[in-house]
Amino acid sequence: MTRVLVSDKISNEGLEILKSGGFEVVYKPEISHEDLVKEIAEYDALVIRSRTTVSADVLQNAKRLKVIGRAGVGLDNVDVKTATKLGIIVMNTPGGNTISTAEHTMAMLTSLARMIPQADRSMKEGQWEKKRFVGVELFRKTLGVIGLGRIGTEVAKRALAYGMRVLAYDPFISTEVAKKLGVQPATVEEICKESDFITVHVPLNDQTRNLIDKPQIEMMKPTVRLINCARGGIINEDALLEALQSKRIAGAALDVFTQEPLPADHPFRKLDNVVLTPHLGASTSEAQEGVAKEVAEQVVDALSGRVIRNAVNAPSVDPAILEQLRPYLELARRMGKFMAQFVTKPVRVFRVYYSGSVLDYPTAPVTTAALVGFLEPISEATVNFVNAGPIAHERGIEIVELKSTELHGYANLITVETEAEDGTKNWLGGTLFTRDRARIVIINDKMFDVVPEGNLIVIENKDVPGIVGSVGTLLGKHGINIAQMTWGRTEAGKDAITVINVDQDVPPNVLAELAHLPNILSAKLIVI
Ligand code: NAD
Ligand code: MLT
Repeated sequence: MTRVLVSDKISNEGLEILKSGGFEVVYKPEISHEDLVKEIAEYDALVIRSRTTVSADVLQNAKRLKVIGRAGVGLDNVDVKTATKLGIIVMNTPGGNTISTAEHTMAMLTSLARMIPQADRSMKEGQWEKKRFVGVELFRKTLGVIGLGRIGTEVAKRALAYGMRVLAYDPFISTEVAKKLGVQPATVEEICKESDFITVHVPLNDQTRNLIDKPQIEMMKPTVRLINCARGGIINEDALLEALQSKRIAGAALDVFTQEPLPADHPFRKLDNVVLTPHLGASTSEAQEGVAKEVAEQVVDALSGRVIRNAVNAPSVDPAILEQLRPYLELARRMGKFMAQFVTKPVRVFRVYYSGSVLDYPTAPVTTAALVGFLEPISEATVNFVNAGPIAHERGIEIVELKSTELHGYANLITVETEAEDGTKNWLGGTLFTRDRARIVIINDKMFDVVPEGNLIVIENKDVPGIVGSVGTLLGKHGINIAQMTWGRTEAGKDAITVINVDQDVPPNVLAELAHLPNILSAKLIVI
């Protein structure tokens, strides 16, 4: 039975959706890392939030794991690279908690400006300290937004509504998009120098770790207030602590930390100019319900072989389009498999050309399907949509996808071409006559009508009389029935290729006998 482990707290609705998929769902929201390493081998899917760390040691033991579903955005707790190598789909729920996190950022911004948490604490201690808590307005102040993605954009919109001037740094967002939003594109340096408030909304990776460090803090106004509702470590915590302790800057509001939970004795907890929340950005009932339901539905779909959505390491295709695409995916996979058994030299370039009506659909998944088929017979690993690209890359195979106008009279044509190191090329053309009538119609420069399934004997022969008779007699002698036969040649009397679908397995001795028949140049078996 398909088994799903949920190793973090998720809402009941999410658990119910997983169970409705007909899977055995095991809910262990407190499981230790050591137990996860031991137990993961028993599961087909793992559903997590941010508490669970899915590191290489977990993945190496995950013998049957197919999907990791992250209820939330950040994937810094998942070793996506190793998962990809192992063919495990990693999916998250981008967008499900955007508004909650943007609203939390705004709450942090106003809390900082008006010292609301500090004033609340003082009130509860029996004080009435009106003079102590004189804040600053947000109106006409400058907010620097670093990372103008989903959350950064929502924060920028809200800050503009407060009458703030918004500067934004995001090298992956065009100036036009920023301007349309009403924000001013800026460099990190400009943001540091000009802002009254700075908020970060980038993913944590090697480029963003310590994006705000001592040199950047040195550039800031002494009145600046920093907010981090993204990930601990984007603002260097040591540099920030020093700046807060020395009052080099006015304050900070932090929702995320390099070590979570933040240690009980961490010096941040003792500072009066810091507002702290325990990673609450996405902690609203709406967001939690939303991401849990979303991830559960995605995992059910993926495990049921329906559609892969929001995967960071596999193509996501709209279900309606996938339905249309399915026969092309299957044809491409079969062509790839044929090619893997047809070529004789190590392949360096794997090209897929598309022409005609197949171009009405996204072709990237079709290319991946052809690659999966190609790698299946030659790779030790289980090859799938997730790891086909990385496996090809590891083998030094370049993948190229191209549009073409060559149709050779067909309404749609997929051409899989391989090139060996010495420049030798082989190519196959495949077409769909109808949704369930797929054919390989070109092998190198010859035209065919090959049904790409089962056992195929591919014979290179001289184009002379008697070939069909001698081959048929030999196969008959061995009890092998011919289901279909097709041949192609470029010119009468020259070399030809004969492709024979047979109903039985073809032992090597039969192939050897075939190869020794007069006028036969070679005979090989291709199994699809
Ligand atoms: P997103 O992918 O929509 O946006 C991230 C943006 O950062 C993108 O526009 C990208 O172009 C930009 N970016 C990437 N590298 C950059 C770099 N080196 N310099 C500048 N910009 C760069 O992500 P999102 O959904 O907006 O999430 C943003 C952050 O918030 C992530 O770190 C996520 O993990 C975190 N998050 C935290 C909580 C929480 O509970 N506190 C909740 C949700 C998301
Ligand atoms: C996220 O990345 O989605 C947030 O940090 C919330 C969470 O960890 O669940």
